[in-house]
Formats: sequence, C-alpha cells, structure tokens
Amino acid sequence: MEEASQNTETVKKVFIQTYGCQMNEYDTEKMFEVLKHQNYFQTDSREDADLIILNTCSIREKAENKVYSELGRLRKLKSVKPELKIGVGGCVAQQEGKAILRREASVDFVFGTDNLFELPEMLKKVSRGQEIIQTKRHARQKVRNFIPEYAFQQTQHHGIKAHLAITKGCNNHCSFCVVPFTRGIEVSREPENILAEAQRLTSAGTREICLLGQNVNSYKANGVDFVELLHRLDELENLQRLRFISPHPKDFHEELADAFVTLPSLCEQMHLPLQSGSDRILRRMRRWYTMETFYEKVAMLRDRLPEATLSTDLIVGFPGETEEEFEMTMEAVRTIRFDLIYSFKYSTRPGTRAAEYPEHLAEDVKSKRLQILLETQGKIVQEKNEALVGSIQEVLVQGKHYRKNSITGRTRGNHSVHINDSCAIAGDLLSVRITGALHNSLEAEIISKSTVLS
Ligand code: SAH
Ligand code: SF4
Ligand code: F3S
Repeated sequence: MEEASQNTETVKKVFIQTYGCQMNEYDTEKMFEVLKHQNYFQTDSREDADLIILNTCSIREKAENKVYSELGRLRKLKSVKPELKIGVGGCVAQQEGKAILRREASVDFVFGTDNLFELPEMLKKVSRGQEIIQTKRHARQKVRNFIPEYAFQQTQHHGIKAHLAITKGCNNHCSFCVVPFTRGIEVSREPENILAEAQRLTSAGTREICLLGQNVNSYKANGVDFVELLHRLDELENLQRLRFISPHPKDFHEELADAFVTLPSLCEQMHLPLQSGSDRILRRMRRWYTMETFYEKVAMLRDRLPEATLSTDLIVGFPGETEEEFEMTMEAVRTIRFDLIYSFKYSTRPGTRAAEYPEHLAEDVKSKRLQILLETQGKIVQEKNEALVGSIQEVLVQGKHYRKNSITGRTRGNHSVHINDSCAIAGDLLSVRITGALHNSLEAEIISKSTVLS
C-alpha cells in the first residue's frame, strides 16, 4: 500500500456517521487517521462539513434503512451546499455498490470494506468531478496486513481504551448472516503488525485494548494462534487490560479458557454468542455446536473463574422457530444466567440461505418473543447486579460522568460503574466497593487508588 502523502492544501472538515459494530467503529477511526493526513479535521456537525461519510451496516434491515433515510436528509443539505462531498462506505456499500449511486444522486462516491485506505486517491478523483465506485476486494489471502502501517504510525492520542482489529471477514456462513458477503473471507494480520499497533497505542496512553474480529478466536498467522497472540500482547508494558470480541463458540477451547487464568491482563469477561437454545434451530442456523457442547464451554470458563462475566447474542423468530423452540432459548437464558444479552428479532438478509427458508414468522410473533426474553433477562441482570453490592472491584476510570463531581469507569468484568467522587482522572486504576445496583450499571465508592497511570 502506498504511503499517504501529506497535502498542504487548505484545511477541510469531515463528518463520519458510524452505523455498525466495533469493527465498523474501528474502520471509522482509521478513516479519520487517513483523512487527517489529507488535511481533513473531524467535525461533529453535518452542516459544517466539507465531506460527509456514512460508514454503513447491513446486519439487519433496520440498520440498512437508516442509511437511506440519512441520505434523504443529506440530499437537502447538498442542495444548499453543492460543494459538499458525500461518500458511502462500509457493509451496505460493499453489497450495494453502484445501486446506491443510482438510488441517491447526491452521493459522490461509494467504497467497500477493503477500500478505506484508498480514500486519498478516491477523493482526488471526486474533486475532479469523477463518480467513484470502489468495492474491489483484496486478493484472497489467509494472512494480510489489512491495516497499513502508516495508518497507525503517527497516532497521537487514542484514549484509555482502544480497539485493535486482528482478523476480518468470516468463512462460517451462518445461514442468517450477511457478514461473509460484506467482509469477505477470513483474513488474519501478521502478529508483528498487530504488536506494532498495540505498542503505539500503549505508548500513547491506551491502557485497555479490545481485539476485534468477526471470528476473533480463529486468528492464525505465521504459526501464531489466538492464544499465543494473547500471550504476546500480555507482555506489553503498560497494558492493563485485554479483551476480545467476537469469538465463535466452536473455537473456544481449554487453552483459551486457561489463558483467562494465566494472563494478568486478560479480563474475566467473555462474549459467547449462542443465537438459539434449540439444537434444531442451531443446525438450521449452521452454527456447528449443540446445546450440550455450549453448556460444556460455559463450564470450561466458569469452572476456572466462577465470577467471570458472560454475555451472548440471541436471535428470536428465526424461520420455522416454534413456541417450544423459543422456550428452549428461554430455558438456556434462565439456566446460564448471562450477565448481558444482545437480542435481535430475526431479519431477512438478501443473499443468505435463511432468506430462502420456508416458514418466516410474522413480525408480531417475533416482537412478542423478544419482549418475553427481555423481561426475563432484565430480572436476571437486576439480581446479578444486586449480588455484586458489597464486593470489591477494580475500576479503570474512563472519565467524568455527566453528573457533576462524578466519574465513570469499568470493572474487569466490564460492568459500567459510577463513582460519586471527582478525585480521579481517566486512566486511574481504582479499588472500589460496590454500593448500589442500577438497571445497566453499578454505583461504587473508592477504597484506594491503587495505581495512577500517566
Ligand atoms: N461474528 C459474530 C457475530 C457478528 S453479527 C458471531 O458469530 O457471533 C452480531 C450479531 O448480530 C450476531 O451474533 C447475531 O445475533 C445478530 N445477527 C446477525 N445476523 C442477523 C439477522 N439476519 N437477523 C437478526 N440478527 C442477526
Ligand atoms: Fe456472521 Fe456467523 Fe460469521 Fe458471525 S460467525 S459473522 S454470525 S456468519
Ligand atoms: Fe454491520 Fe458489517 Fe459490522 S454488517 S455488524 S458493520 S461487519
């Protein structure tokens, strides 16, 4: 990849709207970095911007629809500011390509999930009045440094927490999911390239890194597997906390479970997406595990770390899901007692196998099931949060809370904590006592400031 050249033209402003997952957010951060070297500065105002980019998501229909309604609003903005440039990137752009330009004339350029580092060249062409559709995929390679070094080389500040992509793409083709189409085949980054980015982040003040990948734990490059990579990252000086998302249960094994015990930085928190509690539905989803093996994986973690936080993803109303099968999901939720669930109504995605399945369920059936699931989970979360009251936790301070004289941070289990105290700053590591349980967070008081990280 060619190095982005610093451009001495006048300063411009860019606004980027992000719609999707952590990977999508990470791509947005990288776009800002690439554009910074083209003299673009970030603005929070669409009206103020010379360039607006929508970094889109197509995981569910709702996410995709949001993009088109936003483009409708931007059309009006462009009619009073014709020099405004509008670009559409991300997963919808990868899938729809030219169709976006045809549907929305105010769009100047469309680019795919492999093309964000080509933004400088694209913008040059756009400024010459050319219409750009750049959704070309990288060559099919299992290992590739998909983040060129220049994109993280001159990073100045990344905040206390940062994301770091180690794999991208997915080969699993779960029957409901669009990601393999939008992100392509699974690719792992070379360990040296990952460690270089991690090193830059920690040198710039980052204390917590969350590794990203659509199947983060199937990472493998140059003979280094996921567990080995965790070991190498754990050795980094000044890295207090390490997390990862999103692992696939099929690649969660004993060695990874052991790493939670042996690696000091690896936080006692795991996301293990279940999707459904019914073996028949799991088969139809092409998830490649059964409830029996899923329970074994949960035990693998909890036998070692009974206090570990466990979260999951669930889909209700998959085509053909019966009341009994939905009840099996409820049974799993009541038995496992996840600390957090991300639950979704099944949404048909064009091109996926499940879209062709018979017996799609009515919207009101899906809504009812989602509501039942959320009510039960709400009670579990409340009970679990209340059980934490009185416990001592380590909190990494994130910053000030919107309430005056109060700060906010996260436990190693990733619970959000509010502290009525203002004598700590972002990056401080505190020992706290939990004093109260709110719906989505905890309240705490400081016992001691164990480390002050500068
Ligand atoms: N790679 C991750 C998930 C990425 S997508 C994994 O395998 O776990 C995040 C979540 O969105 C999925 O876990 C799933 O619960 C949900 N999701 C994906 N496609 C969906 C669809 N078509 N309808 C509803 N939810 C969906
Ligand atoms: Fe989608 Fe399945 Fe791949 Fe996750 S593992 S990104 S749900 S296809
Ligand atoms: Fe959405 Fe693409 Fe992420 S579809 S969830 S932005 S991988």
